[in-house]
Amino acid sequence: MKVVIIYGNGRKGSTYNCVQIIKRTIGQYEDVKFEEIWLPKDLPELCCGCFNCILKGEWFCPHSEYVSPIVSSIIEADGIILASPAYGLDVSGAMKTLIDHLCFMWMPHRPHNEMFSKIGFVVSTAAGSGMKRTNKTMKLTLNYMGFKRVYDFGSAVAASRWEDVKGSKKLIIEKKLIKKSQKYYQSLVNRKKLKSRLSTRLTFTVMRKMISGYQDGNVDKEYWKSMGWFDNVRPV
Ligand SMILES: Cc1cc2nc3c(=O)[nH]c(=O)nc-3n(C[C@H](O)[C@H](O)[C@H](O)COP(=O)(O)O)c2cc1C
Repeated sequence: MKVVIIYGNGRKGSTYNCVQIIKRTIGQYEDVKFEEIWLPKDLPELCCGCFNCILKGEWFCPHSEYVSPIVSSIIEADGIILASPAYGLDVSGAMKTLIDHLCFMWMPHRPHNEMFSKIGFVVSTAAGSGMKRTNKTMKLTLNYMGFKRVYDFGSAVAASRWEDVKGSKKLIIEKKLIKKSQKYYQSLVNRKKLKSRLSTRLTFTVMRKMISGYQDGNVDKEYWKSMGWFDNVRPV
């Protein structure tokens, strides 16, 4: 089983240390392998809004040399962990840059068939507040990509460095995260058998109606046609 971890900053700080608890918990199962992606190092370019990915195809993204390997890693994985500190009450700029580059894979465009059976986990830390919104931003991305389940964990650590986080706080974080990580692992194991969520099925149905009305030749419409999604085939 493969889990891809995408870090929204390059620091081995509080967010990173929270992810290490998840890694230790699910890493004790022999079948779990991890791949780590570090932002902004592995995607150093901002989305320039050229629309190429949406209107022509993702191969036309001027940054596809960075985006394609990340997308391939996500497609090959069973689970994805997105981790970001709260910056200005939301995700880091580097995480937002990744989200922007993945919009072509959202259900209103060309969701990948494989996404509908994947399990996500979003993790954030903040000094005081902003974890909820940070997690919501990352969760929305995975939901719109079609993920079957998305777990979340956020903590206010009252510190700028993990070393300065109180011992009692670390214990609470560890206890909560171990519990959630075990649930996450169970979902990973059962991911093919789990029922898809109503919200995903509804979004898919609404998008199918919308995209079927596009002109022939539209990249999104041709993709949905090729997947058989206008006929009786449904990924959810
Ligand atoms: C640019 C910047 C913006 C931040 N914005 C917030 C914020 O809006 N709310 C908050 O509580 N903490 C904020 N913080 C503090 C961090 O979110 C917090 O210390 C976090 O745990 C750092 O994570 P890290 O150790 O994984 O880098 C900010 C820190 C930086 C560097």
